[in-house]
Amino acid sequence: MNNIIKEGKAVLKVAMVKTVSKQMDVFYNPVMKFNRDISVLLLNSLSRKGLNIADPLAGSGIRAVRFILELKKGKIKTLTVNDYSSKAVKSIKDNFKLNKIKASDDIIIKNEDANLFLLDSTGFDYIDIDPFGTPNPYLDSAVRRISREGILAVTATDTSALSGTYPRACIRKYWAVPLRNELMHEVGLRILVRKVQLVGSQYDKALVPVFSYSKDHYMRIFFRCTKGKEDVDSVLRQHGEFEGIGPIWKGALWDRKLIDRMVKGNKIPDNAKILQVIKDEASVGGVGFYDLHRIAKRYKVKIPRKEELIERLKDKGYKASGTHFSGKGIRSDIPLEKLLKLL
Ligand SMILES: C[S@@+](CC[C@H](N)C(=O)[O-])C[C@H]1O[C@@H](n2cnc3c(N)ncnc32)[C@H](O)[C@@H]1O
Repeated sequence: MNNIIKEGKAVLKVAMVKTVSKQMDVFYNPVMKFNRDISVLLLNSLSRKGLNIADPLAGSGIRAVRFILELKKGKIKTLTVNDYSSKAVKSIKDNFKLNKIKASDDIIIKNEDANLFLLDSTGFDYIDIDPFGTPNPYLDSAVRRISREGILAVTATDTSALSGTYPRACIRKYWAVPLRNELMHEVGLRILVRKVQLVGSQYDKALVPVFSYSKDHYMRIFFRCTKGKEDVDSVLRQHGEFEGIGPIWKGALWDRKLIDRMVKGNKIPDNAKILQVIKDEASVGGVGFYDLHRIAKRYKVKIPRKEELIERLKDKGYKASGTHFSGKGIRSDIPLEKLLKLL
């Protein structure tokens, strides 16, 4: 049975199911609304207009519909929506109709394998890789077809490999040793950043994260692409070990100017809090954070309220913020000994 739902400015016909899974005829996951909200917000926060956009793994077409209805005027030059499933393509067409969108020279629907579709193209300014599980099968073609100054968006839902439940799987798929403690999500995200960057480096493409996060069952990174050996070398110099594991990306996960614009441009109240936390932690920077429960247990110290501690650290002249990776985490440049003394 089908159901009509609303997401952003889009209306959508989706199958009613008890559990969201790969086995659905056409894939739509309401939990990923935030993923799509952020894609819309990020694209609207870029100063660039006239983008050639590709959605190679489109499912129901919800992302593309939202781009068409919610991106600022002039943002889209062309939008190509693709899925290899003919049922998905039928649903994309139905959903376009439902939203009064007509396929045209600028809005194109394709029914191909994502890699063939990408490789057969002349390239895009924005490519959104949103697969089931690992993005690995699509990284090579996406990286090859992302243009200079383009944005490559990558989702991974195989977080059990990236965050250390299956260390061997992480080594095989992501060429790094994961961590299995409070920092596992940040480390997993940084392992994924590095993997995508290594694919880019083969083509002299430097991929620098401009916005990244880990949430629910997935990790998400937006990279800005530049071309050139120096830029690639500079990316590779920021790979390294962390607490005996890795290698991971040790550079910034966010572009601070972009996130300022995103916080200002956000119109969805439910998303304001996480965006503000990310803005705050982006201004602190660094790799990793202090998990207050772990510190309390390990060093037998009493921990004040998180907000209070952040204020105390700031009063002492340190940078400090919460972190979206953990409700119990504090990101700060204070060294551990000094933090323990303060506590
Ligand atoms: C996670 S869903 C996409 C969800 C969608 N991007 C959204 O925001 O709702 C992954 C989609 O990729 C499609 N797919 C899987 N392998 C593919 C391939 N090799 N080429 C093209 N499409 C593929 C599936 O049919 C499915 O619709």
